[in-house]
Amino acid sequence: MTPPENITEFLTKHWRSPLAAQGVAPAHFTSQEAALDPASCGACHVQQYEDWRGALHAKAMGPGVLGQLLNMDAQARDEHQACIRCHAPLAEQADSLVAAISQTKIGKGVGLHEQGLVCAACHVRGHQRFGPPRRDGSVPKPEDKLPHDGWQASAAFADSRFCAGCHQFEKDDFALNGKLLENTYAEWQASRYASEGRHCQSCHMPDRRHLWRGIHGREMVRSGVTITAVAPRIEMGAVLAGLTLRNSGTGHHFPTYVTPRVVAEIFQAGADGKAIAGTRQEHVIAREVALDLSREVADTRLAVDEEARLDYRRPLDARARSLAYRVRVEPDAFYTGFYRSLLTGGAGNGEKLIRQALADSLASHFTIFEESQPLQHGEAKR
Ligand code: HEC
Ligand code: HEC
Ligand code: HEC
Ligand code: HEC
Ligand code: HEC
Repeated sequence: MTPPENITEFLTKHWRSPLAAQGVAPAHFTSQEAALDPASCGACHVQQYEDWRGALHAKAMGPGVLGQLLNMDAQARDEHQACIRCHAPLAEQADSLVAAISQTKIGKGVGLHEQGLVCAACHVRGHQRFGPPRRDGSVPKPEDKLPHDGWQASAAFADSRFCAGCHQFEKDDFALNGKLLENTYAEWQASRYASEGRHCQSCHMPDRRHLWRGIHGREMVRSGVTITAVAPRIEMGAVLAGLTLRNSGTGHHFPTYVTPRVVAEIFQAGADGKAIAGTRQEHVIAREVALDLSREVADTRLAVDEEARLDYRRPLDARARSLAYRVRVEPDAFYTGFYRSLLTGGAGNGEKLIRQALADSLASHFTIFEESQPLQHGEAKR
């Protein structure tokens, strides 16, 4: 009998920061086995590569991040590390970033650092592969003769703590109003999902898929909340209605970070279906903070199983034909404001990239709920 694996011990070593360089690959490795770039892994691991390419982990060194790194000194490795330990954590990426800043070859798609959170960052240490046991629970045997000498299996890959290093601040890290700026693991741990044994992977990597959908994915966000429209009543010339949102399927606060904004709204619409000015009421679900992170403005996020309700009450407009209910998501709301203020202050060498990031943040909005109910003029019959 083997004793149960110490997952904390494994992860402390696996995610020690900064990561050590991989060193020299074993002499019998082919150049493909020695390579660290995701496309090389993808030659054999086709499904994971296709999934990963479309995921945000692959875009973790997008223009918003690069645009800020570009204003740092090329040799300021500690300063780089404060960002790339989560956005591009391999030692080889730290090196390629230094080279790119010195040669001002940044944002040009060159270098391992621009590929963001690569496969090897989660799976390769000292050129050795680490991964979960096979789906049937078996682990490779030395005589298996597998590419890259097989892998060392660890239960840590199916555990929420695997994700916590980058999605949870430590207790002395930056906090506002007594709450850490990133607190996803702790929110999960306090929820029923932890006691049910539903780890981050069960929702974000179902069937081991490498998609990591979150606040940027319409279907994903929709799966996390139950939305109910309360039909309109007309009383003494006023329209009364409601819209409720319940965090019924998100494994942490909805949403977990300070960056998104979810807006629930109700308005009266005319014969053309358009909103009539002055009839709109909204409820924002977000943890809103000042752009300079000096204070928390409001925290209306929904803890697991918590519900919010927008109570609508407005005079019935003579032109109104219907009452519209809508829930909109702005996944990067904080960044939109942040990039605007960076550009006002002068974004230096990063200006072009920050402009791109601003445009991307505005293009990411979507709607997860839309419903319309007819409005009858005159007192409703009982
Ligand atoms: C030449 C083909 C090839 C290349 C290149 C390759 N792999 Fe593999 N990999 C395999 C094979 C085959 C297995 C064994 C699958 C099995 O036995 O279930 C494997 C197993 C793994 C496993 C364990 C899977 C599990 O079930 O836990 C991980 C993790 C892994 N590879 C990651 C990588 C990464 C990351 C890269 C790139 C840095 C890479 N591999 C490059 C072929 C390759
Ligand atoms: C503890 C891990 C961690 C560290 C350290 C970190 N980030 Fe992030 N960052 C994240 C996560 C997780 C997200 C996605 C969630 C979000 O949008 O808040 C993110 C999102 C972003 C985004 C928006 C998405 C994008 O790619 O444009 C920018 C810009 C960004 N980070 C810049 C930085 C910069 C600059 C630093 C260093 C000063 C930094 N980050 C340090 C974890 C981290
Ligand atoms: C953010 C960390 C992370 C990144 C990046 C990542 N993986 Fe994984 N990978 C995991 C985790 C966690 C699991 C196990 C999921 C589970 O057990 O539910 C896994 C599982 C696997 C498996 C076993 C799959 C199976 O079906 O049994 C392979 C193979 C693999 N990854 C290869 C890759 C390759 C190739 C890439 C890059 C294209 C990659 N991974 C990127 C974290 C990562
Ligand atoms: C090495 C650090 C690191 C690890 C480990 C990591 N992540 Fe991430 N994750 C990030 C960063 C950085 C981003 C933001 C990427 C961006 O947009 O720039 C991110 C983005 C995400 C998103 C997308 C959120 C959105 O805005 O839609 C999800 C979901 C996610 N991670 C889940 C996971 C899960 C689940 C695990 C564990 C299996 C995990 N992550 C492990 C760093 C990490
Ligand atoms: C029960 C399913 C479930 C579990 C468990 C779960 N999540 Fe999520 N997660 C979601 C859904 C649904 C969303 C989209 C709604 C949202 O953004 O709140 C999401 C969104 C996210 C985001 C996007 C950022 C944001 O502001 O919301 C990140 C990052 C993330 N999850 C990380 C994690 C990590 C890390 C864990 C484990 C500690 C985890 N999730 C556990 C369902 C889950």
